[in-house]
Amino acid sequence: MPLVTSTEMFKKAYEDHYAVGAFNVNNMEIIQGIVDAAKQEQSPLILQVSAGARKYAKHVYLMKLVEAAVADTGLPICLHLDHGEDFEICKACVDGGFTSVMIDGSKHPFEENIAITKKVVEYAHSKGVVVEAELGKLAGVEDAVKVNTKDATYTDPDQAVEFVERTGVDSLAIAIGTSHGAYKFKGKPELDFARLEKITNLLPGFPLVLHGASTVIPAFVDECNKYGGKLDGAQGVPEDMLLKAGKYGVCKINIDTDLRLAMTASVRKYLSEHPADFDPRTYLKSARQAIQDMVAHKIKNVLNSSNRL
Ligand code: G3H
Ligand code: 13P
Ligand code: ZN
Repeated sequence: MPLVTSTEMFKKAYEDHYAVGAFNVNNMEIIQGIVDAAKQEQSPLILQVSAGARKYAKHVYLMKLVEAAVADTGLPICLHLDHGEDFEICKACVDGGFTSVMIDGSKHPFEENIAITKKVVEYAHSKGVVVEAELGKLAGVEDAVKVNTKDATYTDPDQAVEFVERTGVDSLAIAIGTSHGAYKFKGKPELDFARLEKITNLLPGFPLVLHGASTVIPAFVDECNKYGGKLDGAQGVPEDMLLKAGKYGVCKINIDTDLRLAMTASVRKYLSEHPADFDPRTYLKSARQAIQDMVAHKIKNVLNSSNRL
């Protein structure tokens, strides 16, 4: 089974009102933990690689590890570039075997975002690769709760329609109140579901993407803190909100922070409880299991994507 694009995954997810998890990968243990959970749950999945991950592990290592995961599990895996910032990195990933790329032009003015996205779409489509773009700005923690900044930063529904029509992009990341990292909300978590519903209604059948969608599960934050971490005030998107988003045309939910927290909590705990152990295989084995358990939890409770292969 070769790597696949997300086209069929999104079609099924849209029709049956669930979402596909897109998990960030940086090394072998993370990849193994994720794919073992997907296999156990018979769930579709996307493995995504950021520019930082490519720099850390090198493109060729990640590519070969993901190919190994396909050979080992037989799963239909989509390999995606996360937050490509220019045409060059998108082209490098298309040429280097990825089946999906994100061109993130969200920091540019509307017309520039359209132009750069269109250029990537033309190239990627000519090679059978699909493209995700982003419109609107993901909230920083300061903006997240300020109602009057919503219209300036959140995705404008009419612009979303124009953007999709003019670029020919395959999926679109939208801003409705989520943000990256472990500190998403200062007060009560809130997403703009009215805006999401409007966008979904204006773009029927079109797959939307939610970035910054980790829940920052308190038990893992507490575990990190218990063993020497310092993550005070961390807060993420509640699971019921993510499940709801999956019913409103959101076909791809991005998760990185929750994997980092699970892995780090596990390593901190293991080393603290086994101070004489310095074999990387022991604490990385426990970290890999923590990733697997976290991904299985997401598939069952957030994505609703078990038994969808
Ligand atoms: O959205 C960003 C992802 O969490 C990847 O983060 O750029 O530190 O690899 P990174
Ligand atoms: P989190 O930081 O909420 O995990 O979001 C990850 C993400 O959006 C990767 O693109
Ligand atoms: Zn993101």
